[in-house]
Amino acid sequence: MAPNILVLPLLLAFMCFFPFARPFTVIMSDSGVPSALVDGPQTGFSMNKDGARTDVHEQEAVYDIMRATGNDWATDIPDVCRGRWHGIECLPDKNNIYHVVSLSFGALSDDTAFPTCDPTKSYVSPSITKLPHLKTLFFYRCFKYNPQPIPTFLGRLGPSLQTLVLRENGHVGPIPTELGNLTLLRVLDLHKNNLNGSIPFSLGKITGLKSLDLSSNKLTNSIPGLSFPILNILDLSQNLLVGSIPTSLGTCQPLIKIDFSHNRLTGSIPDSINNLKDLMFIDLSYNHFSGPFPKSLRSLTCLQTLILKGNPMGSTTIPNDVFDGMKGLMILILSSMNLHGQVPESLGKLPNLRVLHLDGNHLNGTIPLTFKDLKNLSELRLNDNRLTGSVPFGREMVWRMRRKLMLNNNSGLCYDSNSDFEDGLDASTDFGIGLCDTTRSGSARTVLHLSNSMPMTTNVSYAAAVPVRLFPSALCMLLVLILLL
Ligand SMILES: *[C@@H]1O[C@H](CO)[C@@H](O)[C@H](O)[C@H]1NC(C)=O
Ligand SMILES: *[C@@H]1O[C@H](CO)[C@@H](O)[C@H](O)[C@H]1NC(C)=O
Ligand SMILES: *[C@@H]1O[C@H](CO)[C@@H](O)[C@H](O)[C@H]1NC(C)=O
Ligand SMILES: *[C@@H]1O[C@H](CO)[C@@H](O)[C@H](O)[C@H]1NC(C)=O
Ligand SMILES: *[C@@H]1O[C@H](CO)[C@@H](O)[C@H](O)[C@H]1NC(C)=O
Repeated sequence: MAPNILVLPLLLAFMCFFPFARPFTVIMSDSGVPSALVDGPQTGFSMNKDGARTDVHEQEAVYDIMRATGNDWATDIPDVCRGRWHGIECLPDKNNIYHVVSLSFGALSDDTAFPTCDPTKSYVSPSITKLPHLKTLFFYRCFKYNPQPIPTFLGRLGPSLQTLVLRENGHVGPIPTELGNLTLLRVLDLHKNNLNGSIPFSLGKITGLKSLDLSSNKLTNSIPGLSFPILNILDLSQNLLVGSIPTSLGTCQPLIKIDFSHNRLTGSIPDSINNLKDLMFIDLSYNHFSGPFPKSLRSLTCLQTLILKGNPMGSTTIPNDVFDGMKGLMILILSSMNLHGQVPESLGKLPNLRVLHLDGNHLNGTIPLTFKDLKNLSELRLNDNRLTGSVPFGREMVWRMRRKLMLNNNSGLCYDSNSDFEDGLDASTDFGIGLCDTTRSGSARTVLHLSNSMPMTTNVSYAAAVPVRLFPSALCMLLVLILLL
């Protein structure tokens, strides 16, 4: 009871202090499958069914598997499907015999109490192949201190297995080609092991795959030219992959998320990517991709996040029309890409843009006037460029972003004395830019403004504006207090 009462105020408090918390990952739910992975009501089992019993061979297999993970207690349970624990799921067949359909291990979260593995001596028991109805197999942080290869016998689960998750288990050696025999698989997740060697071509046989996560391993060689017709999520980030992006990627049309970041990929970004009309998230950061700037991205109307940071594209410019189609774009990260030329005006016309990083390039010219229309922008980095001229936005935008506005180390960036940019400054913000030089264009109006109206308006608006800025936080705090009492 008490935890529920606390949740709402905590949530509110979080929203007060992190009002622009940004969504960064696409969370996919694969209908039917993940219910087995998270703590939820287990389906298909009824305690009062007459004559129900568990398949004896499967029961013995489960005992073996539990012993191999250091969970010997399970062998005292006379019927594993009846005295079930979180982490085992069974379903009856038409003769009312129960079969094991899901096994999960590892402390996924505080409220998901799958049996944990003894990390020093656990292994995957070959008895797993004696579970012919197994649809889901999930091992999380299980064999870390007893590193072992992924057993090839898992490939024998082909006729039934739909979800295979071996996350953070310390597995070594290559991804067994035998995994390609798991042709019914929808989810294959081998995240954060020490797997090396190539991505096996045999995985291309798994045509029903919806999510493939091989991230944070030591996989080498190039990405094989596989095409998965219904793949939604492809994560190969944090490996040692080389070569270019295969053009066959464009045939995986329902892709929603692609993450190839932190590899050693080269070449240009293939035009075939424009076939991926559903794409919402693409991260190709920290590779060795070369220019020109991928114009084909223009037709990706669903794209919300584009991250190309840390690819030295080779003195390329950003085409002005490249963002025209990307009306859904919320996060755009183009830092440290050796970009030259101007900041495209079209960026200011992306109504949903929340995060924009263009820092560490060689961009010159002025910040486009359209930037003042970016009403949803909460983070803007333009630092370490060669931008000049006056900043086209004022107090409101400065306060909205505060320390998430970065303008320093630009050769000629400044703010106009007749803008209200300066009103946004306080002791905690130093953008490293000064007042524009008005001596040359010093009109009568500017002089007047500077000499009498300016100090007055500054004081008045600052005093009036402070409560406005504090108001949302104060209101939030009040709500939190009321709810707590
Ligand atoms: C499983 O895969 C291996 C290698 O990919 C293959 O040699 C073997 O015949 C396959 N076994 C079955 C039962 O399909
Ligand atoms: C993979 O790593 C193992 C050590 O864990 C090493 O013996 C083997 O040579 C490596 N294979 C490749 C292809 O790098
Ligand atoms: C900003 O975001 C809100 C929702 O968060 C959306 O309704 C609005 O259209 C967006 N654009 C502008 C310019 O406010
Ligand atoms: C900006 O840089 C490009 C080359 O990178 C140059 O051709 C152009 O003249 C520069 N423009 C300004 C306004 O400095
Ligand atoms: C300023 O930015 C340039 C890149 O445009 C960078 O090379 C340089 O190191 C930066 N200077 C400082 C002092 O950070």
